[in-house]
Amino acid sequence: MLFDKFGRQHTYLRISLTDNCNLRCFYCMPEEEYAFAPHAKLMQPDEILTIAHTFIAQGITKIRLTGGEPFVRKDADQILAGLATLPVELTCTTNGVRVDTLLPMIKAANFSSINISLDTLKPEKFHKITGRNLFHQVRSNTDLLLKSGITCKLNVVIMKGLNDDEIVDFVALTETMPLEVRFIEFMPFSGNKWTSNQVFTLQEIKTVIQSRYAMEEQEGSIHDTAKHFRISGHRGSIAVISTMSEPFCSGCNRIRLTADGKLKNCLFSTAETDLLTALRLGKPILPLIKANIEAKAFALGGQLKEDFTQIDTDQLENRSMITIGG
Ligand code: GTP
Ligand code: 5AD
Ligand code: SF4
Repeated sequence: MLFDKFGRQHTYLRISLTDNCNLRCFYCMPEEEYAFAPHAKLMQPDEILTIAHTFIAQGITKIRLTGGEPFVRKDADQILAGLATLPVELTCTTNGVRVDTLLPMIKAANFSSINISLDTLKPEKFHKITGRNLFHQVRSNTDLLLKSGITCKLNVVIMKGLNDDEIVDFVALTETMPLEVRFIEFMPFSGNKWTSNQVFTLQEIKTVIQSRYAMEEQEGSIHDTAKHFRISGHRGSIAVISTMSEPFCSGCNRIRLTADGKLKNCLFSTAETDLLTALRLGKPILPLIKANIEAKAFALGGQLKEDFTQIDTDQLENRSMITIGG
């Protein structure tokens, strides 16, 4: 089993399938021309399956597929077909752009839920954030997933002065739509031009919502990234992911695998363990996995708490978000 030195068992593996994406969100992808990893450097379907198998044998019960955008990967169908045979809960985080095209494959994968990223309900602002005119595509694909009976969460990264004015509009969606709208505090990553005064905190988000709605906090699991809320009479629900102002590291059960096969024990960790090279050399990967988790820090979330106001995202040692997958 995968315990770190603080006694936290790791049961949730996030696998990035690619660092490529069909959107260009400025908060995720570095502004300068970015070279996507060549296909040969990415874990291949059989390699993903072998690594996933090793993790499941060590107590991993949930796998989330991330990117970049996981559904731009041409062999996603092969990867999903392989993973679907494993005894594990399968989920994914997507920008929703290719959902209509890939609906049969998505249905067949039997995801327990799908998280869709959508930061604005205004088409022009969508273009400003993502560099693409695909708002209506993503919005209608969200409806398509719900209509197909797939449980969905909507990820909304809130950036002060950009989309904090839309919080109430997103909450209004939950009156009729059976989905969880999750407001996410803006986080710093290499090259994403984050500044602390663009962070709209959990408390600020709650204040905005409570000026219009009576909202009740719900009990959650200690492993949740999100704090959950309900508004009486609404079909959907609200959540806030407060990495910066109220981190949740004490219950962390997550480990991440980048698309090029590097293990990261924390979203903000800098050390990486190259599982893919070891696997290709025929070396055992379990000792590497155990050592990586053993080295995990207790908490790296909460930069705002540490008054990390002078952070320069160009100097961050961490990867850019597009190469981590969230
Ligand atoms: P669930 O499994 O549904 O709880 O989703 P999730 O929140 O783990 O995953 P998702 O990919 O939807 O990510 C939503 C936001 O949470 C993104 O901004 C992620 O970067 C952030 N996030 C996910 N996992 C972690 C984590 O372990 N630590 C921190 N600090 N943030 C995380
Ligand atoms: N801060 C917070 N969340 C982010 N995401 C991407 N970049 C950031 C950031 N800088 C979110 C995406 C996606 C999830 C995987 O991570 O919107 O929903
Ligand atoms: Fe886990 Fe690191 Fe996220 Fe904290 S910041 S919850 S330790 S991945």
